[in-house]
Amino acid sequence: MAIPAMRSLEEIQQLEHDYSLPLYAKREIALVRGEGAYLYDSTGKSYLDAMSNYGVAVLGHADPEFTAALTDQLSMLSTCHQSFYNDQRAELLAKIATIAPEGVQRAFLSNSGAEAIEAALKFARATTGKPKIVAAMRGYHGRTMGALSATADNKYRAPFEPLPIPATHVSFNDLDALEVAVDGETAAIILEPIQGEAGIYPATPEYLKGAREIATAKGALLIADEIQSGFRTGIPFSIVDAGVIPDMIATAKAVANGFPIGLTLTTDAISSAMPGGAHGTTFGGNPLACRAAIVTLNALEQRGLYSRADALGAQIIARIEELGNPKVRQVRGRGFMIGLELKERVTPTLRGLQERGVLALTASSTSLRFLPPMIWEQEQVDELIAVLGEVLSA
Ligand SMILES: Cc1ncc(COP(=O)(O)O)c(C=O)c1O
Repeated sequence: MAIPAMRSLEEIQQLEHDYSLPLYAKREIALVRGEGAYLYDSTGKSYLDAMSNYGVAVLGHADPEFTAALTDQLSMLSTCHQSFYNDQRAELLAKIATIAPEGVQRAFLSNSGAEAIEAALKFARATTGKPKIVAAMRGYHGRTMGALSATADNKYRAPFEPLPIPATHVSFNDLDALEVAVDGETAAIILEPIQGEAGIYPATPEYLKGAREIATAKGALLIADEIQSGFRTGIPFSIVDAGVIPDMIATAKAVANGFPIGLTLTTDAISSAMPGGAHGTTFGGNPLACRAAIVTLNALEQRGLYSRADALGAQIIARIEELGNPKVRQVRGRGFMIGLELKERVTPTLRGLQERGVLALTASSTSLRFLPPMIWEQEQVDELIAVLGEVLSA
């Protein structure tokens, strides 16, 4: 049952066009409600959510436990600056310490992915005293000026150059290139263990191990950007699967089921290089965000969602391959982070899915991206495969 939107679709569109910046390529629907794995637009049409709003709504929409916890927290305390102690913040830090790799258990709490990256880059500068970073081609780390220095794509960078942090971008999964690029001036190597925006390209375990060795040998830090890959690949942090412990992990999207939060996990040594006043944020670590993160991280464990995402994700990949559709070039990914590369531009397929009630994302111009909520069950997988099969054959 759809709750009618207060305004018509045309009115909603007009207001967004008239009073916001034209920064986003808009899809023509207005989403007004969600329930579990489904979203509803202003006309009442339902959609299978295969994107969790760019990877954030891991518990789906209007989850009763999540809603009750946030409502309770709103009635207690929603804001508390970090110059005061707070019970929910302490609880979240204790929780993070149980899921972070050994030795990378100190967290800086902020409000978005880009902010988590900004903090990591600033911490790297303070710890090493070095100015440069090395990142990967096709890597995406956010759009604020520091994070943009690490982001590779020229279409994002060029209008804002010179960017504040000197960065070299090397080809991904190429250890020789990394070895050459990292020098005595390099503060950090920053990598996505699975490149997301680029089209879901996993780093090989050898590459991640090699990056760790190169960073250590040259006195640079290794930063894992798990903002998109965090929590949805069967384990909290996918780099750990390769047997690699980075110096810092930046994560955000899924941490609090869509409530804005950023986390920069660091070592004691890095923490010691950041004295009082060296960094900060008004909203970071607020009790509402912390409570949202606690309930999300607990639910992922208690409801067995890590292993289910791993199993159902593998099934999605296998079943797309079994479709045997000639338009498909490759299916890549792990858990609920799946890229489907076509031999043609993906916009018509994305549109076809949306018309038939499935919301997915693009990554590159030829790759579709599926980042489903982790509450998906067999029924949603079957629905996705059925609709995708129809759309690809149309
Ligand atoms: C890997 C990665 N890093 C950083 C970011 C930036 O996060 P935010 O959009 O929250 O600033 C993103 C966002 O898509 C991302 O996928």
